[in-house]
Parts: sequence; C-alpha cells; structure tokens
Amino acid sequence: MKVAVGSDHAGYKLKEEVVDLLRTDGYDFKDFGTFNEDSVDYPDVAREVAEAVTSGDYDRGILVCGTGIGMCITANKVRGIRAALCFEQYMAKVAREHNDANILVLGGRTTGVEIAKEIVRVWLNTSFDPKSRHARRVAKIEPHSNQGG
Ligand code: RB5
Repeated sequence: MKVAVGSDHAGYKLKEEVVDLLRTDGYDFKDFGTFNEDSVDYPDVAREVAEAVTSGDYDRGILVCGTGIGMCITANKVRGIRAALCFEQYMAKVAREHNDANILVLGGRTTGVEIAKEIVRVWLNTSFDPKSRHARRVAKIEPHSNQGG
C-alpha cells in the first residue's frame, strides 16, 4: 500500500509523528510536506495529496491541519476522494468499513499524538468489503450529472 501524507503548519508536528509511524511500520509513503511550522495554506496541500490518490499513484492519503476541518472540506472537493475526519478509533474503523474512506484526516490541535497513532493504525489496517451492503451506498456518493460536478 502506498500512502501520501501532508499537513499545513498547524498539523506539522502531528504529521511528523505519522511519518515516523509509517516508517516504523514499513509503509511505502511520500511526505508531501509541509516541512516546518512556517505558515502555508491547507487547501494547497490537501489538493496535492488528494490528486496523488485519485491519480492512482497512491492508494491512501493522510492529511493533518489544526482541526482537520479545512483539509477534509478541500480533499472532498476532489472527485473520487472520500476523506474522513476521525477523532477516535471507532470512527477510523467505520470510515473504512462503511465509507471506504481513501483519505484520513486528523486535527493536530485537537487530537493527541498517541490517540492519533492508534487511529492511523486502525484506519490503515481496516479493509472495505466491496460485496458488503455499504458498497451500494458508497457508489451513490459521487456527484450526480445534473449537479454539473
Ligand atoms: C490554520 O491556522 C488552521 O486554520 C488550519 O490548520 C485548519 O485548522 C483549518 O481548517
């Protein structure tokens, strides 16, 4: 599994912890930055990571900003992205099982490091069953043609 990771300045410290975890657990990943705490605009990073996933170059993405909200809103504007902001492990589990979330979003200012690491591990290790009842619902998520999307 190839994982794309990114954050803004407010998510930088937690993103570094996520990068450490991915390295320790042996994941193939790319860190799309940011690489320090200088201020950057979260939509720029969210879009880059989201497009890295929809291009097929990466299987999953992880985004971190202050609350996770801005990253989540932006990533979900990219067709084919199902980004889920998770605060605890149960959300991470069902984000995969029910929603086939391909991007996990964390809040660097709202979620502690140890909880965040558990969220990441649960989310990465939970699969989506394409034969489950949830697959029909996930297929209905994409914008309808009459919405111009
Ligand atoms: C940055 O100050 C902050 O607005 C950003 O990280 C994020 O929380 C936005 O949703």
